[in-house]
Amino acid sequence: MARTTDSRTSPDSKKTVTLTDNTTGRTWELPILEGTLGPRAIDVRRLYADTGFFTYDPGFTSTASCDSAITYIDGEKGILMHRGYAIEDLAEHSTYMEVCYLLLHGELPNRQQRDEFERSITYHTMLHEQMMNFYRGFRRDSHPMAIMVGVVGAMSAFYHDSTDISDPYQRMVASHRLIAKMPTIAAMAYKYSLGQPFVYPRNDLSYAENFLHMTFAVPCEEYKVRPAVARAMDRIFILHADHEQNASTSTVRIAGSSGANPFACVAAGIASLWGPAHGGANEAVLKMLQEIGTKERIPEFIKRAKDKDDPFRLMGFGHRVYKNYDPRAAVLRKSCHEVLDELGMRDEPLLDLAMELERIALEDEYFNEKKLFPNVDFYSGIILQALGFPTSMFTVLFALARTVGWIAQWKEMIEDPNHRISRPRQLYIGYPKRPYIPIDQRK
Ligand code: SDX
Repeated sequence: MARTTDSRTSPDSKKTVTLTDNTTGRTWELPILEGTLGPRAIDVRRLYADTGFFTYDPGFTSTASCDSAITYIDGEKGILMHRGYAIEDLAEHSTYMEVCYLLLHGELPNRQQRDEFERSITYHTMLHEQMMNFYRGFRRDSHPMAIMVGVVGAMSAFYHDSTDISDPYQRMVASHRLIAKMPTIAAMAYKYSLGQPFVYPRNDLSYAENFLHMTFAVPCEEYKVRPAVARAMDRIFILHADHEQNASTSTVRIAGSSGANPFACVAAGIASLWGPAHGGANEAVLKMLQEIGTKERIPEFIKRAKDKDDPFRLMGFGHRVYKNYDPRAAVLRKSCHEVLDELGMRDEPLLDLAMELERIALEDEYFNEKKLFPNVDFYSGIILQALGFPTSMFTVLFALARTVGWIAQWKEMIEDPNHRISRPRQLYIGYPKRPYIPIDQRK
């Protein structure tokens, strides 16, 4: 049973760590917080008030920014669970709609709950007609992530009846609107880049089928979504749904901690995800594989990835938390073969190249010593390209799928009675106080 809100703020006062300042001999007892699984935490909420010390942790390598019951990652063992369910089981047996319900509500839905949730999402997929005007303000060659940041942020200007975050009903409506409308907004960004007409959502299609139809259908002929393609798309959405307190989710939480509306918070998350060190890596992996080109050139790039003087990194490898194989990459690796076989692309050269690159990297001492394994982005791009998406849409699909994670984490924060505005401090290394110098006395 996940811990309740009450236990979050009542550390077990018997369990403490002792902090000693060797310059003064002073000592303090700091409480230990214990979760359901994973590392224990030292409660430093009163550290500055009691000791005058800050903690120092740029990049938050050792910092728990919150407590959460949504997702658990064990980086050493390569474990990922959502509300206690292993990602492998969810990818194999569940659907993205079920996972959305699970992330938002904490339990898998029964048949009636699932049908009601899916119906609510289906009937929120249309965009306000005027929002189409935003697209015409962008250049046709705009990166679709730029469009996503702009249009999702603009939802705050259209859906005023679901921006009061103190109202549980409005929080639920905003959550459903975001989950439902992201595929429509994403597909429209793609259509706009092609100069093709927008395709409206259809209520007779599943979530993944609807997205594929809006993306690839044209008015001139019927477009049938292949079941295997829809299943692969749905599985990719499941694998990208949530991932604890990653950079974009932390961005959404920090934006939300000031009371900003959920549409603006998700727009901030999209902006953060765009970076090549984060969600932008799937696009960067494809470009890297295309640059490597042949198996013969792999050693040259492995050498560059290990060269401290070369900014090149092996995209799709390494992770702040996983020091083992990313379980999502393992599922995607298997799915890659299935999808390419299904599409008659079993000899796709990029997959062959990726498998060889993975084999060589995993045998390399540098990658082993630094525990650099393939992450979720290493294989996803190969599948997405096989499904017909251009590389510029890869991070858009990541943002589409991650919206439920962002909004579930935002909801958990807003509903925590102890939540406060996030306002980190710093270690100041600038000038001490100095006198103003009039301009005619400056050098
Ligand atoms: C995602 O946080 C999440 O959960 C994110 C995510 C999610 O679902 O939300 O999982 C999605 O963002 C996956 C990561 C996608 N990014 C990439 O594939 C880009 C390539 N990877 C690296 O940029 C890096 O591994 C990070 C950004 C993913 C992690 O960076 P860290 O934790 O800050 O680690 P680091 O940069 O300090 O690296 C540790 C060492 C360094 O060497 P030293 O300075 O110790 O000598 O490993 C080296 C790095 O140089 N290293 C790499 C490398 N990644 C790390 N060397 C070569 N190639 C790489 N890919």
